[in-house]
Amino acid sequence: TATETKNLRTPIVCVMGHVDHGKTSLLDKIRGTTVVDKEAGAITQHIGATEVPLGTIKAMCGNMMAASVVIPGLLFIDTPGHHAFTTLRSRGGALADLAVLVVDITEGFQPQTIEAIKILRQFKTPFVVAANKIDKIQGWAPSPNSPFIKSFTGQPDYVKAAIETKTYELVGKLSDLGFSSDRYDRIRDFTRNVGIVPISAKTGEGIPDLLMVLIGLAQKFLEDSLRMTVTGPGVGTVLEVKEERGLGFTIDAIIYDGVIKVGDTIVIGGKEKPFTTKVRALLKPKPNREIRVEERFDRVSRLTAAAGVKILAPGLENAMAGSPLRVATEENKETVLKEIEGEM
Ligand code: GTP
Ligand code: MG
Repeated sequence: TATETKNLRTPIVCVMGHVDHGKTSLLDKIRGTTVVDKEAGAITQHIGATEVPLGTIKAMCGNMMAASVVIPGLLFIDTPGHHAFTTLRSRGGALADLAVLVVDITEGFQPQTIEAIKILRQFKTPFVVAANKIDKIQGWAPSPNSPFIKSFTGQPDYVKAAIETKTYELVGKLSDLGFSSDRYDRIRDFTRNVGIVPISAKTGEGIPDLLMVLIGLAQKFLEDSLRMTVTGPGVGTVLEVKEERGLGFTIDAIIYDGVIKVGDTIVIGGKEKPFTTKVRALLKPKPNREIRVEERFDRVSRLTAAAGVKILAPGLENAMAGSPLRVATEENKETVLKEIEGEM
């Protein structure tokens, strides 16, 4: 019910994987957008954030969805796969409650796939593997947007065999890295095994299954942890510092815990040292819209974690991407300044 979801934190789902394996395309399919087309050379160069409400997820999952889902939605973080962006991948990984590791099923594990797994292991982040581009398997007969199992059942035997072989290659690679895994429909205990969901970001096949597994992991996470309950002062990370026409310097940030309001005093890590400022405005991308490319925002007076937000405040030209952000009070701001100095 509405009251149940009211104080639950939106889980942050980081999408990781090797360059060109289809991370942004997957999110485009979920959102119904074409962000890939807006990227220079279709290469992601920044961390993106998109809130996908539960309603969107339910619409894609149809009757596969359990009735008892209580989270408000998922905040997806898109990360670059290009090898040059290790820092951004770690930053994304550090923020994540859950992750989707996207692997091109025709290419298998590549260097940044392994790098991503190491980041996920470091932060103990539960993840699901999206074995993408199944439509490229020779002979695959697509049925757009249908659940994987349904599409799979209708394939000729040699196509089924090819999917099985490719899936078990991924199982082998995961095993080498210390993870037990299997195709998701053969897993009973997702806390002990990593699920592999064959998908196509192009045809939409398998995306209902992927979202189901994610929601399942999120709910499990929710049972296990009270971290999902939104309380206290906002805590976040600066993704980008941008000068916006008519607005001056702004920051794009992810608020991963607590609440932030217009008028709040915030402490931000700066180029030389942390500084305090006061929130003048909070601009939120609309649901299913990506903060990096969106031009229209909703002005809000307060927001709760997790959320991507563009913040307007004086002095933001001194802010630094990747640095921490915290809501403080007039009384504790000196302490918070010192704490953030220590974190940097
Ligand atoms: P980086 O952000 O640069 O790491 O790449 P990415 O992982 O976000 O990959 P992106 O979504 O940009 O896709 C790379 C290319 O693969 C594009 O040309 C997509 O159209 C194509 N692609 C992605 N998913 C699929 C798929 O499921 N099937 C097919 N056939 N092509 C796909
Ligand atoms: Mg991308």
